[in-house]
Amino acid sequence: MSYSRDISQPIFDRALNVLVKGVSSNFRFLGEKETPVIVKGKGAHVWDADDNAFIDYRLGWGPIILGHADDRVNHAVAEHLENGTTFAATSELEVIVAEKLVKMIPGMEKLRFTNTGTEATMHALRTARGYTNKEKFIKFEGQYHGAHDYVLFSTASSPISAMGARTSPIPVQVGSGIPDKIRDYVFCLPFNDFDAIEQCVKDHHGEVAAVLVEPCLGNIAGIEPKDGFLDHLRSLCSDHNIVLIFDEVKTGFRLSNGGARDTYGVIPDISTYAKSLGNGLPVAAFGGKAQIMDVIGGGSVTHAGTFGANGVSMAAANAVIDILNETPVLKELANRGLKLKNGLDQILTDADLPHQMCGHPNIQGFLITEKEVHEVRDLAHSDDVLYEEIMNNMYDRGIWVESDPREPWFLCEAHTDDIIDKTLNIFQESVKAAVK
Ligand SMILES: Cc1ncc(COP(=O)(O)O)c(C=O)c1O
Repeated sequence: MSYSRDISQPIFDRALNVLVKGVSSNFRFLGEKETPVIVKGKGAHVWDADDNAFIDYRLGWGPIILGHADDRVNHAVAEHLENGTTFAATSELEVIVAEKLVKMIPGMEKLRFTNTGTEATMHALRTARGYTNKEKFIKFEGQYHGAHDYVLFSTASSPISAMGARTSPIPVQVGSGIPDKIRDYVFCLPFNDFDAIEQCVKDHHGEVAAVLVEPCLGNIAGIEPKDGFLDHLRSLCSDHNIVLIFDEVKTGFRLSNGGARDTYGVIPDISTYAKSLGNGLPVAAFGGKAQIMDVIGGGSVTHAGTFGANGVSMAAANAVIDILNETPVLKELANRGLKLKNGLDQILTDADLPHQMCGHPNIQGFLITEKEVHEVRDLAHSDDVLYEEIMNNMYDRGIWVESDPREPWFLCEAHTDDIIDKTLNIFQESVKAAVK
């Protein structure tokens, strides 16, 4: 990297003394001399401690849908702080936000708030188990659903070589510390494989409580479902008394106001939300059919959390929801996202690089490979080293995209046309420098 770290490095050295690996989430560690120290974000930009500015397409891994430190959200939160935040009771604002969500999300009947996506998927899974009185669940290889034990199998970080044959996939534990027995509760299947899921559901009829799926692969370059795949999941779940859970932690309030269930036209039983709902403030939710959600409470299924629906998170969510409802943010974002996608595609084509463009314009990616990509196993053929080199060139030129092609490019309202044009110019230079 060509940036000065005169100020950042001493701060990170202090971080290494007191924070494990100097970070508060494993995935943030990029090396002892490489991990950025950020002091400020505004709109589509972030600044590091040495005052180097970057156009940001990581956006905190997705939550920033309007732009960093959005004035409208900041104002709403600051104003609400005067009222206090946590009361171990229902607040009126919580009811207002829930009512707006029920109106905004097709098929949403009842919900509960949590603080993180991890909590939302954990509680959704428990609710499905409580409702069906079954214990196992199906997830898809390459999908990340948070950091609780049940879902840390065959995620985006797992080596593809450890996943076994497509016809008999092996659930791969992500790291140590996860009880081996939990493997018995999960089936990990290739995404977009109609036959694999059908076979699994039939073979294990009566055992499977839930199918937990990211409707598009928010942790694998945004790969989209094949036509009919989500409908296929829907009908299999209905036929076999299985709860269909859409993990919309990345897609919710990003693809469209109603989320992926609206964009793809398939209504699951439960969905989970986080990230964009608070534009960077910690707020999450899970909810869906009242008949299923009503098993929570009253001594049956446990859902709890001291900070659930706290005033700060509700004020942020309320502001985000109003902005999305009152202005066509996500539609305009999709137009600019498409311009970016088409531009990247053209530059890669002109450079004679075989590639696959992936994802919805608002959460997109590309892979350097000739082979079509429909699931994580297809990444075995992609040139991740070249991708990383291009992204390092981008970073050296002031544009911050994850250097791993699995993490998509996120767009926000503050990515203006000018910023997209600048990004494309720099991308062209960065590709040229990498393939020279
Ligand atoms: C699809 C998906 N689900 C769940 C989570 C977990 O969310 P959190 O990090 O808020 O716990 C993530 C995090 O990136 C995610 O991408």
